Order: sequence, then C-alpha cells, then structure tokens
Amino acid sequence: MSRLVVVSNRVAPITEGEPTAGGLAVGVLDALKQQGGIWFGWSGEITGDVASTANPGQTVGRITVFTVGLSRRDYDEFYRGFANGSLWPTLHYQIGNARFDWKEFFGYRRVNALFARSLAALVRPDDMIWAHDYHLFCLAEALQEAGLTNRAGLFLHTPFPAPAVFMTNPAHAELIRAMCRFDLLGFQTEPDRSAFADYVLREAGGTALGDGRLHAFGRTVKTGVYPIGVHVDKARGEEEAPANRRYASRLRASLAGRKLILSVDRLDYSKGLPQRFAAFERFIEEFTARQGSVVFMQIAPPSRSDIQTYREIRHELEAEAGRINGRFAEVDWVPLRYLNRSFTRNVLMPLYAEAQLGLVTPLRDGMNLVAKEYVAAQDPADPGVLVLSQFAGAARELDAALIVNPFDEAGVAAALDRGLAMQLAERRERHAAMLQVMRRNSLDAWRDRFEADLRA
Ligand code: ADP
Ligand code: F6P
Repeated sequence: MSRLVVVSNRVAPITEGEPTAGGLAVGVLDALKQQGGIWFGWSGEITGDVASTANPGQTVGRITVFTVGLSRRDYDEFYRGFANGSLWPTLHYQIGNARFDWKEFFGYRRVNALFARSLAALVRPDDMIWAHDYHLFCLAEALQEAGLTNRAGLFLHTPFPAPAVFMTNPAHAELIRAMCRFDLLGFQTEPDRSAFADYVLREAGGTALGDGRLHAFGRTVKTGVYPIGVHVDKARGEEEAPANRRYASRLRASLAGRKLILSVDRLDYSKGLPQRFAAFERFIEEFTARQGSVVFMQIAPPSRSDIQTYREIRHELEAEAGRINGRFAEVDWVPLRYLNRSFTRNVLMPLYAEAQLGLVTPLRDGMNLVAKEYVAAQDPADPGVLVLSQFAGAARELDAALIVNPFDEAGVAAALDRGLAMQLAERRERHAAMLQVMRRNSLDAWRDRFEADLRA
C-alpha cells in the first residue's frame, strides 16, 4: 500500500506536552497520529545563508518527521514576504493589508522547489503526496520539474476569495496555473471551491467536466470540499482528566460565580479581535445589569510577530484592553482578561468547558477549529452557547450556533446577552445539533475522504 507523505510549511512538535497554535498543525497531527505517515516541512529554524538539507527524520509513534531549515533570504521572501505578507491577507479578503514584490514571489517559488528537491530523496514512486495550505501552491509544479510523477493533492486551510479579490495579487495567473498541476485540490467550504472554479472557468479558459473536475492548461484537476473537523470524544476525555483541570480549577475559583465568555485565537488581524473588544465594550455599556457579573477572557498567543501588521494589531489590543478595563473595572471586578500566551491542548479543553459562552468572531476564516473545539468540550447535559461569525467556514456546518456579523457591534453585543440568558433546553438542542454535524464531519472523515479521492 502506498504511503501518505504530508507536506506543510509548519510542522507541529510531535512530542507530547508542547503547545501547538494553528489549525493546520493541530489537524494534521491528530489525523496522522492514528494512521501514521511521513510529515515533511520547515524546521522553524533560520539557518544562516543557505537552507539546510533534510534531517535524518525523527519518529514518534507512527509519525516520522523530516524537516529543512530555511536561509534568512528564504524566510524573508517566502514565509514573511509572499506567504504571509501577500497571500494570507489576500486569501482573507484583506487586500488593504497585502503587499507585493515580485522578488518575494520568486523566493516563494524557490522554496517550493527546495521542498520538492528534498522530497525527491525521500519518496517512493507509489507514495501519495498531500500538501497543505497557501505556502505550497507551487509544489506540484516543482515536484514535476524535479522529475516526480507521484499523485499529489493540496488542501487549502484558508478561504479562497472571489476572483476579483484574488486577482489583486499580481502573480495570480502564475499561482492558478501552478495549482492546476495538482491532481486534487481540497477546500474547506463550497463557496471557497466555487470561487476557485470561477477563476479557472472565467479567467483561465478552463472547462468544467462535472463532479468537481476542471480541465485547464492541458490537464484535469479534481476539486472538492473537505471541511476539517476535530476528534469529538477526545476533547471531552481531555476535559475530564483531573490532571488537565489545574488551570480550569484556578479559573473557576477566580470567577466566584460570575459567567465567563471565552475567546481563543492566534493573534492575527483576520480574527477580528479589535471588533470583538469593541462589541464586548458595547455589551457591558448597554446591558448594565451584566456589569460585575460577566468576565470576558481572550487568550491570544502572538503569531508572526516579525511582520508589521501583526505588531500593530498587538499594540492596538494592548491599548484597548487597558482602556476598557480602566473605564469599567470595579474594586472587585475586572471585565476583560487578556492573555498573550498558549496552553497545551489538554489544558485548553477544560478551559473551554468552564465558559458559558464561546465567542468566535473572525472577519474571515477557512474553518476555525476553535469553534469546533469549544462545542466538543461542552458537557452535553449543561452546554455553553457558541456565538459564531458568519464569515468562519465553520458557520456552514454549525448553523445551530448564534450566528453573528463580526462587523456589527450591536448585533454581537445582543447575541452575547441572548446567549448568556439562554435556557437549558435550547442550549441542549443547539449543542446536540452541532455535535451531530461534527461527528459526521470528523477529523478522520476529513483525512479519509481526501485520501480516498487522491487515491482515486
Ligand atoms: P488558525 O489555523 O487560523 O490558527 P483555527 O481556529 O482553525 O485557526 O486553529 C487554531 C488552533 O490552534 C486550534 O486547534 C486551537 O486550539 C489552537 N490554539 C489557538 N490559540 C491557542 C492558544 N492560546 N493556546 C493553545 N492552542 C491554541
Ligand atoms: O491554519 C492557518 C495557518 O496559517 C497555518 O497554515 C499555520 O500553520 C498556522 O495558521 C499558524 O501560522 P504560522 O505557521 O505562520 O505560525
């Protein structure tokens, strides 16, 4: 049987006990743990002037990880520059935050080629290559140029925007042509898939062959929708283990019976944190009876902090948290707790379970695993309420959440009040509906369906 070789820029630490912030790393790690495989990517290290060759591989359980280091130039042009300075904002509809430099695009292609050359030394002819995310749009092209003929698929964890937005990136045509060199392209939701198909059909002269297959640039690529999920039962298991409840017990004691609203995000401008803080301020301003009896805790570990837009949002949030607390705090109540740190997942799950309300309001998100983790961690007999942005991919499946527009401060404030007041019967009904969808679209189903389609 052919092996599955996963390729992604970010590779999660595979030893237990280290925090992993980021949906890709969390999802791939969980998916691989069970069935094993090879995982190839960046070591997270900058290795001076030249990229390092792949290390001999580290095996933990059934996963073997091979990594390469990037040179300073590769890191600047590929990771900091084109991937996170150009593509990330464009894919999230934030074209005002995007910058572009052809030099960085060439650096991006160069690192895709570097990955392909390193993979050529590792893979067998019948291995299947599963690439992840926007860092690797040019990987199939590079693999073919390195002489590999393995089946190759790409799963995009982020949204894919409307063609008019994607075309603001000057390298859009090169990127689409390169993406069409994969055998299979997976998206989180149907709107993402059809935005990509729209581009291929309208702008690249492609034709639709039915069943998600597109013919363009002289070859056929299959496209499909594979919403990423979580291990529902594992989340509850972690929630219940006494050793994992240390922080949750401290949190509960500190709340002294007050209700908790919880948000957990990488500190990223796509997550809508300033808008969320503003909505929370509006909530305590308008619903005065809630003052003193509700606490909002935002956990947001810094991410990509050597990129200017990320430094700016961090400063903005620090200032806002201080201002809101300064305005409303009492001698015995501080409304907003802002934590710039990560927690291991087994600690995070019991924290989710402490919150009467999970607040997940990205301005755009491919899926948003935090929303699903929050639901999975709830006690079905007395679950909390999820308030979810209509612009998160997860809203397509979790329509039993209280769905909000993150740009509508008053609407989010009203949803907070409604969620905190919701009666047990309604909470249970909504939670059961969400759990049912999440069981159907589990992490295993995500992996198995993608793998089966790639194999086919
Ligand atoms: P993204 O991939 O954009 O970061 P997701 O919500 O899909 O967004 O995935 C985030 C993942 O990272 C989740 O699995 C979540 O548990 C984890 N994560 C986010 N913030 C933290 C944190 N502060 N500590 C630990 N894990 C975190
Ligand atoms: O899931 C979105 C994502 O961009 C992943 O691709 C990435 O691994 C994660 O968020 C964290 O970002 P980074 O790898 O840049 O630290």
